[in-house]
Amino acid sequence: MFNTTGWNRLRYNLYAPVYDAVAERAFRRARREALGQVNWQPGMRVLLVGAGTGLDLPWLPRDVEIHATDLAPAMVKRIAKRAESLGMDVQADTMDAERLEYPDDHFDVVVMHLILAVMPDPERGLMEAHRVLKPHAQLCVMDKFQADDEPAGLARRALNELTSAIATDITRQARPLLETAGFAIEVDRPVMMGSLFRALLARAV
Ligand SMILES: C[S@@+](CC[C@H](N)C(=O)[O-])C[C@H]1O[C@@H](n2cnc3c(N)ncnc32)[C@H](O)[C@@H]1O
Repeated sequence: MFNTTGWNRLRYNLYAPVYDAVAERAFRRARREALGQVNWQPGMRVLLVGAGTGLDLPWLPRDVEIHATDLAPAMVKRIAKRAESLGMDVQADTMDAERLEYPDDHFDVVVMHLILAVMPDPERGLMEAHRVLKPHAQLCVMDKFQADDEPAGLARRALNELTSAIATDITRQARPLLETAGFAIEVDRPVMMGSLFRALLARAV
């Protein structure tokens, strides 16, 4: 019943006014570290998927072309507001990560921060990211994951019933997800709460 795209749209529209109070400071270091792993070049075309209120914007280079999308219109409004207050030119649009409205081979970098553990079908989201990325272009991920070498145990799966309804899935495994979607992982490091939160840089192959 929960963890559907419709439920996510509803709850993130409701969370939008308080999102920064919860997430700004808490993830500041982790998002900077993740974005710092990207090999940035002037003029790159960059897509933020599930961009929330745009908390990544302050940590992006100024000489790239930025597109930011989110499922929840209340989030997209806040992205546009943040971009304006930062003096950044950002194309902000409401869009489902499962159906990106961009052509194939269009972006140099796709950023997916704290969305793969939220969307009901992360495989589909990653396939879309792969489709819109140019060959060998970069995917920047920061999220919470279960260790790749062991599936989630019973207790974690039980807790996941609650966390996935109100916040996020805690049983997903990064490496199988990314590799199945056609990405080669170049960097994978823990960035927060031990190894629960990881920052990964991968290439579309
Ligand atoms: C935990 S927030 C992360 C926001 C932001 N990336 C950040 O790092 O602060 C998850 C975001 O993903 C968005 N989202 C969830 N499902 C989505 C989907 N199918 N397509 C696009 N955005 C989605 C939500 O609306 C929410 O803004």
